[in-house]
Amino acid sequence: MRVSLRAHFHDAVDVQQFRRTIMSTTILIYNQNDMKIGSTPEFYTGAPVDPVDLRFRGAFVANLWRTLRSGHVVLAAPRRTGKTSVMDYLRDHPENGFRVVSINVQDLTHPADFFQVLLDAFHDAHPEFVRDRLAEGWGLVSGVLDRVESIGAGGFKLAIRGSDPDWRTNWRRHGDTFLAQARNAGDPILFIIDEFPDMLINLAREDKGLLREFLAWFRTQRQNPAPTRDSIRWLVGGSVNLAGTLDALGLVDLINDLEDVSLPPLTEEHIETFVADMLGGRSVPFDADVPRRLIARLGRPIPFFMQIATRDLYRRWKRGQRRIAATDVDAVFNEMIVGSAARTQLQHYYSRIRQYYAEPKRSIAHALLGQISVSESGLRRETLLHETERALADLCATLPAHQRRQLFNQLMFDLENDFYIVEVEGGTCDFASGVLKSWWRKYHA
Ligand SMILES: Nc1ncnc2c1ncn2[C@@H]1O[C@H](COP(=O)(O)OP(=O)(O)O)[C@@H](O)[C@H]1O
Ligand SMILES: [Mg+2]
Repeated sequence: MRVSLRAHFHDAVDVQQFRRTIMSTTILIYNQNDMKIGSTPEFYTGAPVDPVDLRFRGAFVANLWRTLRSGHVVLAAPRRTGKTSVMDYLRDHPENGFRVVSINVQDLTHPADFFQVLLDAFHDAHPEFVRDRLAEGWGLVSGVLDRVESIGAGGFKLAIRGSDPDWRTNWRRHGDTFLAQARNAGDPILFIIDEFPDMLINLAREDKGLLREFLAWFRTQRQNPAPTRDSIRWLVGGSVNLAGTLDALGLVDLINDLEDVSLPPLTEEHIETFVADMLGGRSVPFDADVPRRLIARLGRPIPFFMQIATRDLYRRWKRGQRRIAATDVDAVFNEMIVGSAARTQLQHYYSRIRQYYAEPKRSIAHALLGQISVSESGLRRETLLHETERALADLCATLPAHQRRQLFNQLMFDLENDFYIVEVEGGTCDFASGVLKSWWRKYHA
């Protein structure tokens, strides 16, 4: 049994408390059948969950490895739902003999940077393998490795960058060699590319032709050899919907071979377990209806908000030392909407529309979301279409009826793909997240 003392040192009020915590922690061993046994995890409010604390993803991770046996995968889900946490888990617990190399490409703007960052991460994660196998007979890298010891920390990437003054022109050749070397090296390799759509958006901004070339190159690499005969696998992930991004650029056919996997939302049972364990594990007494109330306030659960709300319940208890009730859940959610922890996250949803939606979609999106946010449980599509026409009239945009409908359908598709709204039942759309809905109502309705 592994008990994490880390979490308890600053949380334990006194020794008695600490012992109680340990006792309830021990009980958890029998309650918890997913992934990890023992210890109450820390609260994670923003950073990816450390693989040793990851829960509720056992079945999904197993499924992901299964899917990766036969193909390449794209993993899309909204921000702060747990993609990177799962990716980190795969990296730390590889299966089927995979060597995993994981990078975040959010800020990269050129394919040359992509290969340099990937090579550097490869070297960080598997230095001997890179030295003895990957670099074997590949002058660009073996030459650097001969020198790198003298360059010191961080030197490998700089030296790789300097190894060819024309990297930007030669990215394709270096990319080809890189993957050929990786295939020849023998072991199965999983490349995890986090925030991939962001890199594509950056590429498109710099040079749309380059984006097309890169995507075409990448597709050829994924299909030749066919995945079943390839020792390389790609898992690309992102918070922006990849198909949506590329559809807008007319390039969606260049990724349609990727297996689409979506991160399943946490179930009500998961949330109940989470609240019970995180509070119970810290000896916080709470009424039986507390988890239910939290589930109701979350709406479609974004794990990040679940963590903040539960942590705030814990802090409330620490301040007052009285039993937590459902009214505390309401107070915590109301504070969360105006509080600073969630603000950046929520603000992001608002700014994203300003950044990525061109007019008239931008104004219409704001109008529709404003209306939905003040509705009790969502609005019907006809109502939203009507609202769209009104917003268009406000913008003095005169479009024929079929174009107005087309624009509306596209916008609804975008808003669903970017995880703002969901169709709750036959033709009614509501905010995907209850927290986002309350926040939108307060600040943007
Ligand atoms: N399995 C999980 N259980 C509980 N909370 C989680 C889980 N996965 C993610 N979270 C919460 O979501 C936050 C963001 O996780 P992260 O993996 O960085 O998401 P993403 O990469 O989708 O933005 C974490 O700080 C944590 O609050
Ligand atoms: Mg992430």
